[in-house]
Amino acid sequence: MTAMTAQKTSALSVSRLVKTFDVSAPWLNRVVERKPRQLLQAVSDISFDVPLGGCLSLVGESGCGKSTVARLVTGLYKPNGGEMRFAPGHDGKPLSAQMIFQDPYASLNPRWRVKNIIAEPIRELKLRKTKAEVDDRVMELLKTVGLSASDGDKFPHEFSGGQRQRISIARALAGEPEFLVCDEPTSALDVSVQAQVLNLMRRLQDQFGLTYLFISHDMSVVRHMSDRIAVMYLGRIVEEGETEALFAKPRHPYTQLLLQTIPNIEKPHRDRVVAGGEVPSPLKPPSGCPFHPRCPIATARCSAELPDVRTLSNGTRIACHLAEDA
Ligand SMILES: Nc1ncnc2c1ncn2[C@@H]1O[C@H](COP(=O)(O)OP(=O)(O)OP(=O)(O)O)[C@@H](O)[C@H]1O
Ligand code: SF4
Ligand SMILES: [Mg+2]
Repeated sequence: MTAMTAQKTSALSVSRLVKTFDVSAPWLNRVVERKPRQLLQAVSDISFDVPLGGCLSLVGESGCGKSTVARLVTGLYKPNGGEMRFAPGHDGKPLSAQMIFQDPYASLNPRWRVKNIIAEPIRELKLRKTKAEVDDRVMELLKTVGLSASDGDKFPHEFSGGQRQRISIARALAGEPEFLVCDEPTSALDVSVQAQVLNLMRRLQDQFGLTYLFISHDMSVVRHMSDRIAVMYLGRIVEEGETEALFAKPRHPYTQLLLQTIPNIEKPHRDRVVAGGEVPSPLKPPSGCPFHPRCPIATARCSAELPDVRTLSNGTRIACHLAEDA
């Protein structure tokens, strides 16, 4: 009974996911220069659940593996290990995830009129029968994302960054998805435009009951969007919990560090680089807890032993030897 309820409330359950890239030099160079094969573990033993009709965000500094997780979930990459279980959608078949990318310009065909860009998934998936029905649907989608019918006749370059992201959202919605993976969908936009696009995405989530796996390096953006947040560091989740709990009382030293980088209205020019030094190379991850070289409270145990993921009494999951329960 419990297992069934769990399945019903998670759109996606990811368990012990691993993705390794072979970044070795070409074979001949390796032989001549006697270099070993080099493997980069971009995603190391990651588990999370995306709540059905809700939003889980992945957050962390550049290179921590967020986009790799997005690509695994959308099937663009095959995992080297672990499992992904999608709940059944409205049609009874397992949900599949549709991706919205950071750079809307790169993902929109520059030579196509916007109405054809949006119509493509409708035609491809045969979601409408006649040309008139497809046209009507395109008009409806343009309105849904706050664009006008006449915008359909224009080309992508005639729009601003925010409008282009609205076009890619309309295109994603055209396939009638139930689950969207949004990889930094607003990080290329100005702050004011960012807020408009995020508000649109929240409205669409309510209107269509969408499930989001949302990705950002920006804690203030994920706070606005998420029911739950998973903080990633060097390919692992170090803390995962309910959004307000995480903001009210971050338990992991890395989460605490990240929260210090949120822009502050009183100090808008504060240095936003995360303190405590650079992220180590994922080619040579530190021993023990991968965060130990930057951790202000690390002990000898931290450099020797990888912390297990523990679940605290409030449901937060954490990977730290020293983090205490409430
Ligand atoms: N196709 C690939 N081949 C080799 N290495 C890769 C590949 N894709 C990602 N990586 C490496 O895997 C690690 C994780 O990269 P990923 O793009 O998932 O990080 P990210 O968290 O999305 O970063 P960003 O915030 O910069 O987008 C990085 O070290 C990256 O260099
Ligand atoms: S395990 Fe140790 S090094 Fe890692 S975050 Fe916790 S205290 Fe810091
Ligand atoms: Mg990325």
